[in-house]
Amino acid sequence: MKILHIVGARPNFPKLAPVYRAGVAAGVSQVIVHTGQHYDEVMSDSFFESLGLPKPDENLAVGSASHAVQTARIMERVEPVLERHRPDWMLVYGDVNSTMAAAIVAAKLGLRTAHVEAGLRSDDRTMPEEINRLVTDRLADLLLTPSRDADARLRAEGEPDSEIVFVGNVMIDTLYYTLARLGLHAGPGGTWANDGSVVVTLHRPSNVDEPTRFASIMAALGTIAETRTVTFPAHPRTRTRMAEFGIDAGRVQMTDPVPYETMLGLVTRSYAVITDSGGLQEETTALGIPCLTVRANTERPVTITEGTNRLVPDPAALVGALAAIKRATGVRRPEGWDGQAGVRVIAALQARPT
Ligand code: UD1
Repeated sequence: MKILHIVGARPNFPKLAPVYRAGVAAGVSQVIVHTGQHYDEVMSDSFFESLGLPKPDENLAVGSASHAVQTARIMERVEPVLERHRPDWMLVYGDVNSTMAAAIVAAKLGLRTAHVEAGLRSDDRTMPEEINRLVTDRLADLLLTPSRDADARLRAEGEPDSEIVFVGNVMIDTLYYTLARLGLHAGPGGTWANDGSVVVTLHRPSNVDEPTRFASIMAALGTIAETRTVTFPAHPRTRTRMAEFGIDAGRVQMTDPVPYETMLGLVTRSYAVITDSGGLQEETTALGIPCLTVRANTERPVTITEGTNRLVPDPAALVGALAAIKRATGVRRPEGWDGQAGVRVIAALQARPT
């Protein structure tokens, strides 16, 4: 069996790693195609190194552009690559532009696509990721889901049972694997000792592209930083907007984006995380660390119903929400968040005829 992985943006890389490892263990022939959606050392290369991934076989170097232009460039450049490799399966991950662009091209070439992290929905079509999820799931031939709510959602949208396979959360495979590699261990009951600090990441256009909203979030973080260490590794978009809008970070410690291992160190030591990232909502649930998500909705409801996540759409409510946090004494993890999801992805592909 020959599989071809499409990745492009930062959140894709920790999802690829466990699937790639399971593919190597199963003797599967694999090709990694990086679209180049993210290209900075800190947004891309450092992840390949720390996750033990080989250099991509192909790099399409599409770079940054508007959504339409970036998507079109990926489609144009991925088509000849797919024709040349003609894999038994193309695997796409998550909900970034690279995911959707490649799914459209493969569908028209008559190549089979498996979508890892299928079935997540925010029901918010102002999010570009929601459009990417909807299109990718409609076109994919195999829908590999991270949580049971995703199975139910896909069925409700009319996807046949035969195309839906629950595999669990591949991102969490990488979390456990890396914690073990770094020798980072939780205390009794799976809980982590904390130093009272708060880790922040924000990069969604809905939070950082609107000056008044972004300023009110930073004002709340500034208040929190009067009594706690607040570390904010900032996505390039976030940094650009801060400068453009003249927003002052105050006592909040802004840094460049950090490598995956550094982020895990910060998060495992933290009292709580404040974010709008999808991945961090999941990682904090798996670690039992409180998470305040600065959004009105989440495509990952299991992090609320079974995890440590809470939605705080109103920036003015952040200080109170942080004060109201009660740290759990034990960790409860959603089904299939067990470190074996990558193995189940490869098993699901092998269970189908080549
Ligand atoms: C993308 C994903 C988002 C994901 C995020 C994680 C889509 C629609 N969005 O958003 O779901 O949560 O990645 O990081 O695919 N830039 C750099 N260096 C880079 C990459 C980007 O400086 O290596 C800057 C550029 O100014 C660029 C901007 O960041 O215009 C946005 O990058 P883009 O890939 O368009 O979207 P993200 O906001 O990163």
